[in-house]
Amino acid sequence: MTAAVLKAKINKENISTGIDAKARQKISEGLVEVLASTYTLLVKTHVYHWNVVGPLFLPLHEMTDAQYNDLFSAIDVLAERIRALGLPTPLSFQDFEDRSTIKEETQDRTAEGMVDQLVKDHEKLSRRMREIAKLADDADDLVTADLLTQRLTFHEKAIWMLRATVSS
Ligand SMILES: [Fe+2]
Repeated sequence: MTAAVLKAKINKENISTGIDAKARQKISEGLVEVLASTYTLLVKTHVYHWNVVGPLFLPLHEMTDAQYNDLFSAIDVLAERIRALGLPTPLSFQDFEDRSTIKEETQDRTAEGMVDQLVKDHEKLSRRMREIAKLADDADDLVTADLLTQRLTFHEKAIWMLRATVSS
């Protein structure tokens, strides 16, 4: 019974805030992808926080601490925006994995390898966020466009800081 409620079609919900129903569905689906990807990146960042070794241990341990805390806060904001738009959030780890464009970690990496992987993931997520923010902006969904602008600010800063750690 719960699943039936959670799988309710967005267009049947009586939301009339000035965002076209089809656009609302598309934007929400984009946000589900961003949410799932953010979740996966959170787990990866946390795993690196614990497992990094070598001369870069302290800067990376501390940087990933700040980053996973930001990602954790963002997850709640993204999920609540999806609910406000009328769509359900993913229900399980499997759902998150299926909807994420970021892949889970499957191998041991050096500290530099971890940084390289995080930079690639932040960049990939940033590219998708920009597309979805454009979609939201075109549909006058200023709240989602603003939210994604804030998320992009974090990701672009994270990319800079990660890169700077391994640059000579
Ligand atoms: Fe910690």
